Amino acid sequence: MTKKIVLLPGDGIGAEVIDSAKQVLDAIAEEYNHTFSYETHAIGGSAIDEHGTPLPDETTAACKSADAVLLGAVGGPKWDQNPSHLRPEKGLLGIRKALDLFANLRPIQGFDNLLHASPLKEEVVKGSDLLIVRELTGGLYFGTPSERRNNGHSVVDTLAYERAEIERIVDKAFQAASIRRKHLTSVDKANVLESSKLWREVVEEKKENYPDITVEHMLVDAAAMRLITNPSYFDVIVTENMFGDILSDEASVLTGSLGMLPSASLREDSFGLYEPVHGSAPDIAGQGIANPLAMILSAALLLRHSFNLDNEARIVESAVQNVLEQGYHTGDLNIIDGQKVGTEKMTERVVDYIKSNSATNSIMSC
Ligand code: NAD
Ligand code: IPM
Ligand code: MN
Repeated sequence: MTKKIVLLPGDGIGAEVIDSAKQVLDAIAEEYNHTFSYETHAIGGSAIDEHGTPLPDETTAACKSADAVLLGAVGGPKWDQNPSHLRPEKGLLGIRKALDLFANLRPIQGFDNLLHASPLKEEVVKGSDLLIVRELTGGLYFGTPSERRNNGHSVVDTLAYERAEIERIVDKAFQAASIRRKHLTSVDKANVLESSKLWREVVEEKKENYPDITVEHMLVDAAAMRLITNPSYFDVIVTENMFGDILSDEASVLTGSLGMLPSASLREDSFGLYEPVHGSAPDIAGQGIANPLAMILSAALLLRHSFNLDNEARIVESAVQNVLEQGYHTGDLNIIDGQKVGTEKMTERVVDYIKSNSATNSIMSC
């Protein structure tokens, strides 16, 4: 298989971990006879520095002509005081919108030997395996531009959704639930927000098309509580943009670290942008200690969703699991035993596993 991947390293640890994902994809290409070609383009703060804009046109054009995109992370204190249109985050929101990536899948699955790395009790975390389906191109983040303002005395952000935007994300969530445990929780704030009332209405309508899925509605505040008191209650959660952003960082504590959570930003076709849930982590950037596993697991999602290479995706996931079972971990994971390693060593361990297991794995996949 021959495919073109655009790499958007971005800022801080984004630029450090993207190289880990590339090494893993290279190992997969070599062992399983694929050809992946790469183009690297600027986004975020580094794009502001080099090109005067967080999302250069050539970056958008390159992504549009690629088969898939891998993104590290954007942002950092250097650009925090910039005006809104010159913030790194604008680049990320801009590329999601330009590519119409409305469906952000954030799987949260604890690895067995990391149960004790979570600050939550092991018996609470054990067995949790959920998927947050976050709407990614609407809601508060993209409120009506003409209404958005900040004149120093009054500010306005709007939360706007078209029915069609809700329908397509709700459909994605139902489809995801039908190949999982068939339990969908729609999270909203329907006791207060108009947008949530329409959201509930759409979910109620759509559920007629998916009779084997159990559907319920949950208010976002209660969902935030239940997520860490009884996480295994959930299978698929579908929610609007900002609720999904907040709940997914909260859910990362189930896995032991934000540095473990991958994501896939998708639209209706096979194209996708794959990005870890975490940010540029300015507090640890440049030290070579960032956890590359969220980025590596995002590359696994790329193989599965954009290239239909489920076997190869599983191999990457098994490699991560195996390396953790051997006790290797980065410093963000609160583990006393085993061996603490940096970004490079962790990546090397994952790549070594892929290389040393390819013969057996390809026999198994026949
Ligand atoms: P963050 O996710 O960057 O970091 C939060 C905490 O988690 C920090 O202590 C950090 O060290 C730790 N952490 C995150 N990822 C890690 C990893 N892979 N390995 C080890 N530790 C990790 O969130 P923040 O500090 O609130 O934001 C920093 C910047 O990142 C901001 O500019 C923000 O806008 C941006 N951001 C970008 C994205 C993105 O590009 N997708 C996502 C979130 C935040
Ligand atoms: C994420 C990030 C972004 C978001 C920011 C950096 C704009 O927090 O991908 O979760 O809120 O979508
Ligand atoms: Mn976030």
